[in-house]
Amino acid sequence: LASIEVDVSSLEPGMSLTAKWRGKPIFIRNRTPEEVKAADEVPLAELKDPIARNANLAADAQATGIDRSAGKDKENWIVMIGSCTHLGCVPLGQAGEYNGWFCPCHGSVYDTAGRIRKGPAPQNLAIPTYSFVSDKVIKIG
Ligand code: FES
Repeated sequence: LASIEVDVSSLEPGMSLTAKWRGKPIFIRNRTPEEVKAADEVPLAELKDPIARNANLAADAQATGIDRSAGKDKENWIVMIGSCTHLGCVPLGQAGEYNGWFCPCHGSVYDTAGRIRKGPAPQNLAIPTYSFVSDKVIKIG
């Protein structure tokens, strides 16, 4: 299936964009250092879903801040499928109690690493296969 390339050069820290891939919204966010730190400080034991759900890592990788991100030296970047894991609504960004994402359909709350923290959704927002083809372009798929 087709992959897409997304230019993220306009995203300053704290900014995000939504691309479209295979008919689904893809959230790309350049997190601020504070947002990265907030995610890193959460103990795994507090997470409803402790699995990374990151298609770029092993299936049993844990939902640490770094393994939810684009990885070492790119921990500010987070790329996720924008489909609530409850019933598939599109969550709103920079919203909700953790200032991550909030799903208005039934109130699921995701943190700044896209991990489910409250509400009915069972899993963290899924991370698609992606890679940086340069510092400014992300290839998804
Ligand atoms: Fe998101 Fe139900 S679809 S909370």
